[in-house]
Amino acid sequence: MDERIVTGEQLEEESAVELSLRPTILASYIGQDKVKENLSIFIQAAKMREEALDHVLLYGPPGLGKTTLAAIIANEMGVQFRSTSGPAIERSGDLAAILSSLEPGDVLFIDEVHRLPRAVEEVLYPAMEDYFLDIVIGQGPSARSVRIDLPPFTLIGATTRSGLLSAPLRDRFGVLTRLEFYEPKDLAAIIERTATIFDMPIQEEAANEVASRSRGTPRIANRLLKRIRDISQVRGEIEITLKTTKLALEMLQVDDVGLDHIDHKLLRSIIDGFNGGPVGLDTIAATIGEESQTIEDVYEPYLLQIGYLQRTPRGRIATENAYAHFGLSKGDQ
Ligand SMILES: Nc1ncnc2c1ncn2[C@@H]1O[C@H](COP(=O)(O)OP(=O)(O)O)[C@@H](O)[C@H]1O
Ligand SMILES: [Mg+2]
Repeated sequence: MDERIVTGEQLEEESAVELSLRPTILASYIGQDKVKENLSIFIQAAKMREEALDHVLLYGPPGLGKTTLAAIIANEMGVQFRSTSGPAIERSGDLAAILSSLEPGDVLFIDEVHRLPRAVEEVLYPAMEDYFLDIVIGQGPSARSVRIDLPPFTLIGATTRSGLLSAPLRDRFGVLTRLEFYEPKDLAAIIERTATIFDMPIQEEAANEVASRSRGTPRIANRLLKRIRDISQVRGEIEITLKTTKLALEMLQVDDVGLDHIDHKLLRSIIDGFNGGPVGLDTIAATIGEESQTIEDVYEPYLLQIGYLQRTPRGRIATENAYAHFGLSKGDQ
C-alpha cells in the first residue's frame, strides 16, 4: 500500500527519528501556550504539596504532541514515565501488575485510552480515585475479593477524540487538555528546531513554506522536512532553499494547503458524486475505499479546521472554499 505522507499518524519506520526530535522539557515544547501555562501551574502546585499530579487526559488529532507532552510532564515532575496503550492491556491482571509496580508519584501513560477493554477500565476506577485495586482471587464459591493499596500515581491518557471515552472514565480525569492544530509560526519554529537537530540549516521562507503545508501538525512538518532535506542534500546544497522546498513538495504531491490525493479524492467524491453533499460518512468511506473511523479521526479534522468541509446532522458538505480549491464554484453545478 502506498503510504500517505501528510497523515498525522505515525508511520512504522518513524519512531526512532521521532524519539530524537522530542523536546524533553516544557520550555522547549513549542506552541500550545494555554496548555503549557495551565500544566506548568498544576505541576508546580503538585510539587509544592509533594503530591502526585492530578490525572490528565490529552486529546486531539494524531501527531499534535500528546505522547511528547506526557513524557515532558513526567520529566518536569521528576518521576518515572511508564508507557502502555489501551489495546495492549488485555486483562485486568495486566493492569494490576503495572499499577502495583509503580513508585509514588510515577506517571502511567496509556495511549489510545478509549480502547481499554471494559473490564480493565473498571479496575482503573478505584485505582484512579482512591489508589487501590479490588482483585477477585479464585473462582466460584471460594472466590474472594482482595484489596491492594497502590502508591499515589498520575494517569495520563491520550485519545484522538474525547467523545470516544466512556463517561465514567472521562469523569475521573482532573485535567482535560485539548491540543489544537498549530499556528504556522509555531510550526516554522518546530521546523527550524528540527533542522538544527538534523544539522541542515533551512532558509526562513522555506521553513514558512513547509509550515503552511503541514496541516497544523508537527509530525507532518518533521516528516516533510526529512524528505526535503534528502532532496536538498542530493542537489548538493548546504542549506534548504525555498526553490528546493517547492520542488520537493511538488514531487511529494502535497498541494499548497497541505492536501494530498486522498483529500482530493474525498472532496471530489462529495463535489462530483453528491453535488456537494450532504452525504453520510459511511457512503463517502465506501466511495473512496477508506475506513469511516480513519476518515473521521485522521483526514477530516484538518479539512474542517480550514473550512473545506462541514459536518451536519444530515452528513458532510463540501464548502465554497473546497470548490474554489479546485477552481470550481458551488453555483455552477
Ligand atoms: N510542541 C511541540 N514542539 C516540538 N515538537 C513537537 C511538538 N509536538 C510534537 N512534536 C514533534 O512531533 C512528533 C509527534 O508528536 P507525538 O507526541 O508523538 O504526537 P501524538 O502523540 O499526539 O500523536 C514528535 O516526534 C515531536 O518531536
Ligand atoms: Mg502518540
